[in-house]
Amino acid sequence: MPEKNELMEKIVSLCKRRGFIFPSSEIYGGIGGFWDYGPLGVELKRNVREAWWEDMVLRHDDTTPPPGMPSPYAMVGIETSIVMHPQVWKASGHYDLFQDLLVDCRHCKARFRADQLTASQCPLKPSKRPGEHATCDLTEPREFNLMFKTYIGALVDPESEAYLRPETAQGMFTNFRNVLATSRVKLPFGIAQIGRSFRNEITPRYFTYRSREFEQMEIEFFCRPAESRLWYEYWRDRRFRWYVSLGLSEERLRLREHSPEELSHYSCGTADVEYAFPFLPEGEFGELEGIAHRGDFDLRSHMEGKLVRRGEELVVETESDGKPRHPGSGKDLSYFDEETRERFIPHVIEPSAGVDRSVLAFICEAYAEDAIPDENGVPQPRVVLKLHPRLAPVKAAVFPLIRRDGMPETSLAIYRELKRTWNVDYDDKGSIGRRYRRQDESGTPFCITVDGQTQEDGTVTVRDRDTTVQERVPIRELVVYLRERLTAA
Ligand code: GAP
Repeated sequence: MPEKNELMEKIVSLCKRRGFIFPSSEIYGGIGGFWDYGPLGVELKRNVREAWWEDMVLRHDDTTPPPGMPSPYAMVGIETSIVMHPQVWKASGHYDLFQDLLVDCRHCKARFRADQLTASQCPLKPSKRPGEHATCDLTEPREFNLMFKTYIGALVDPESEAYLRPETAQGMFTNFRNVLATSRVKLPFGIAQIGRSFRNEITPRYFTYRSREFEQMEIEFFCRPAESRLWYEYWRDRRFRWYVSLGLSEERLRLREHSPEELSHYSCGTADVEYAFPFLPEGEFGELEGIAHRGDFDLRSHMEGKLVRRGEELVVETESDGKPRHPGSGKDLSYFDEETRERFIPHVIEPSAGVDRSVLAFICEAYAEDAIPDENGVPQPRVVLKLHPRLAPVKAAVFPLIRRDGMPETSLAIYRELKRTWNVDYDDKGSIGRRYRRQDESGTPFCITVDGQTQEDGTVTVRDRDTTVQERVPIRELVVYLRERLTAA
């Protein structure tokens, strides 16, 4: 395999060449931190979302719950608006605290995150760190809120200010009462959402890894306070295993518990699922997902107002006149437990994953280079995306060996039949070797070729992407053959 940086360049180039990911607004020179997904990328992304929804929402209780905990428990979906009442972000703490420290260079106008100065590069040549050129003139660190601001209605004034959500989570908290009242769920239960989030990142980088617009897959899992530690461990381990089940190797993944200094303002325990992305230096890992024990922070904030930590306690932050700095909704978000006849505010465990980061990790893991023999047995280099069959954008491609002797007609009939169940490609252009290589780069697990023998005995060849081994399979058994192999992994 190529060196790490060279490898990342090759992955970015493959993503462009095959139509997975393009820079947004590319014909105008692109726009930093925004990306578009092309025809294959959109299918891959859809498969990641669907795998998550199927495994976490529809078949969420296929796993063993912590000892003594109920099974099945309830898990329901929700889809909430991107722009929410501005008070949501004030009570949640995002308005005051969702910020990075940034440093500007007065000379070259570059902007850096203060906590990443030593890992950043000044744009001037030769390449040096910010502050190391004689002309560098850095400002003191300044606070910069990451929420994108917008205005509701015709007037651009402070009264009409609103924000694009920086996380989907708050939509679940603000709908806690609605879900309780309408779904007849009982603790413990989860509310799941997939949707876009926006963060005005100071230094978007590493391809789609840190973008300004991205998608999240989040669960807010509500439980009894005494049981929350068990559920935290359950979700932490379960989410780690999910990535392994879809092909990420355990050697490149790790679960890392946050130190107390690292915890977000709401969290009393967090673990990250991290992946050794190829753009990171050897031995470093990047966050794929955070699993946070958020206690009762969010429901309490939306009841009482923005909370601050005073020692061990969370208290409502007040102004000098004693009024809450950012009042909550004043609505009762507590839960009455019919079993224990107690009323309390549930605790929350939050597994929060990024769709785009997952897609990027799956592509990085799947990228491989090898050599396979051509028609004359001469080894030819190839690039192949060894994506898990559940994630592969196209599940199979059908080729007529040549464009005559009834082969196109038979191939099209097979293509139409398979298309009823899967996303399938038909390709009759170029040599068979080139067609295989195109599908290898797209991550298609199986290529089906109709050849001279097909007309005689009703069989086709099925080539496996990873081993390149070919088997003859009767056409009437193709659906069963593919189903077994696509779902076996
Ligand atoms: N509700 C909790 C929350 O939003 P987070 O750790 O800030 O937690 C969760 O974000 C996940 O969202 C991250 O693990 C990552 O996968 C994804 N994510 C966050 N910021 C991102 C960005 N700028 N670009 C792409 N993905 C991002």
